Amino acid sequence: MNIQKKPIVLIGFMGVGKSSVGKILATKLKRKWIDMDQTIEQKFDMNVETIFHTYGEKTFRETERKFISQFLRQSSTVISTGGGSFLQMDVQKKCMEKGFVIFLDITWDSWKKRLPLLKNRPLLQGKSEQDIKELFFSRKSIYSSHHLKIDTDGLNINEIADAIFQKLK
Ligand code: S3P
Repeated sequence: MNIQKKPIVLIGFMGVGKSSVGKILATKLKRKWIDMDQTIEQKFDMNVETIFHTYGEKTFRETERKFISQFLRQSSTVISTGGGSFLQMDVQKKCMEKGFVIFLDITWDSWKKRLPLLKNRPLLQGKSEQDIKELFFSRKSIYSSHHLKIDTDGLNINEIADAIFQKLK
């Protein structure tokens, strides 16, 4: 698959492994790794949870949009997005035009085992399992814009990065 130096954009639901996989993949491909949530946290000097509680989701999304457009101008990168960035149609469109978008997919049964590890995600806090399940399935449609999909069920972080690496060779 020839994607030249286009930015690789990793998308998918919260906690699927976009950051961990992005970091490994960037090393394998000798590209620069950019983590959207980390970048936003550095700008505000607070974690995502505190940004949501202090400034609200709208401010978070505006910042996310601004940084993604900026980073899409750089070549030879791997960008780990936050799971909600594709809620913004213009972000989806730009990423599809300028980048190579890889969707890390996971089934609900595999994902829900990770739920106890995701206590710092503001959109999951105070929600019942049923609410979270609905959010999980409602997000599927935003991830339908992609160039490559990787089924991550049963794969660890290294195996996911390797599966992508093999496809890009
Ligand atoms: C969000 C996902 C989070 C983070 C924020 C909102 C979402 O990133 O950006 O909590 O709306 O799906 P991860 O996908 O890395 O958990």
